[in-house]
Amino acid sequence: MKRDLLTLLDLSKEEVASLLKRAAELKAGVNTSSCPLAGKSIGLLFDKTSTRTRLSFQTGIYQLCAQPIYINRKELQLGRGESIEDTAKVLSRYLHGIVIRTYAHSSIENLARNSTIPIINGLTDLHHPCQALADMLTIQENKGKLEGVRLAYIGDGNNVVNSLIEAAMLTGIDLVIACPQGYEPDSKIFKKALSQGAKVEIVTDPEEAAKDADALYSDVWVSMGQEKEVERKKKKFRNYQINRNLLSMAKPDAIVMHCLPAHRGEEITDEVIDSSQSVVFDQAENRLHTQKALLEMLI
Ligand code: CP
Ligand code: NVA
Repeated sequence: MKRDLLTLLDLSKEEVASLLKRAAELKAGVNTSSCPLAGKSIGLLFDKTSTRTRLSFQTGIYQLCAQPIYINRKELQLGRGESIEDTAKVLSRYLHGIVIRTYAHSSIENLARNSTIPIINGLTDLHHPCQALADMLTIQENKGKLEGVRLAYIGDGNNVVNSLIEAAMLTGIDLVIACPQGYEPDSKIFKKALSQGAKVEIVTDPEEAAKDADALYSDVWVSMGQEKEVERKKKKFRNYQINRNLLSMAKPDAIVMHCLPAHRGEEITDEVIDSSQSVVFDQAENRLHTQKALLEMLI
C-alpha cells in the first residue's frame, strides 16, 4: 500500500525516530553507497516559490539515483482545465512519487486520494511537515535529545508551527508558542495535541515564551498567499521579534532557529540570525538529509 506524507501525523513516533536516525547516518555518509531509488522518477509540482524545498528535493532525489521532474502546472493540461483527479491518475502511471507545494491543504488530500503513488507535502497553507523533520534533526544534533527540550516559537500561528505542534506530539518536545490574539495556530491541531497529552502551550507574551527556552524559533509574519495582509500584520507582530533582548531571556546555550526565508529586521534581527547561537543554515542543510530518509521510507 502506498504511503503519503500530508501531515507529520502520517508517521508514527517510532517512524519519526528511525527517520531521524537514518537522516543522521546519511549526513555522516554512513551506508550511502547504494542507489535505493534507481530507475524511479519523482515529480515536483510547485504552485508557490521555493528555494530550499525544491532544491533539496531535486538534489536528494538525484543522490538516491532517481530522476526529479520539475512540473510547471501552467505547462500541464491541468492549466487548461484537466481535472486534478484525472491528472493524478495519469501521473501515477509514470511517476513513483510526487512532492507538491500548494495553497489549500484539501488540494493535496484530493491529489493523494486519486493517486496510487506516495504524495509528499512540500508545504500547504496548513502544514509544512518536511520542515519540522529537519527542525527535529537540528534540535537533536544540538541538544542531544528531543524529549523535554523547551522550544519557544515566536510569531504567526502558521503552517510551520502547526507542523511543529505535530512534531511535539511525536517526539515529546516541549513547545511554547507566543503569538498575538487572533493569530493562533490551527485550533483542531492544537486541541488534538492537548488531548493526546503533548506539552504544547500558547501565550501572548514573547518574553514568557522565551524564558529558559533551549531554542527560539521564528518564521515570517506574512506567509505566501497572505500578501494583502502585509501592513496589518506588520503592526500586529511588531513585538514578536527575536532580538538580543529576547534571546537574553532564554538559556545561555539556547539555539536560534528559522525555517528561512527570513525577513531580517522584522521577525528576527541580523545580529541574532548571524550570531554563533544561530543554526538556521544547519536547518536548511538538514532538509536534504531528512527528505532523503523520507524518500527511502516512502518510495
Ligand atoms: N523553508 C522552506 O521551505 O524554504 P523554501 O520556501 O525556500 O522552500
Ligand atoms: N510560513 C511560510 C513558510 C515558508 C517556508 C510561508 O508559508 O510562506
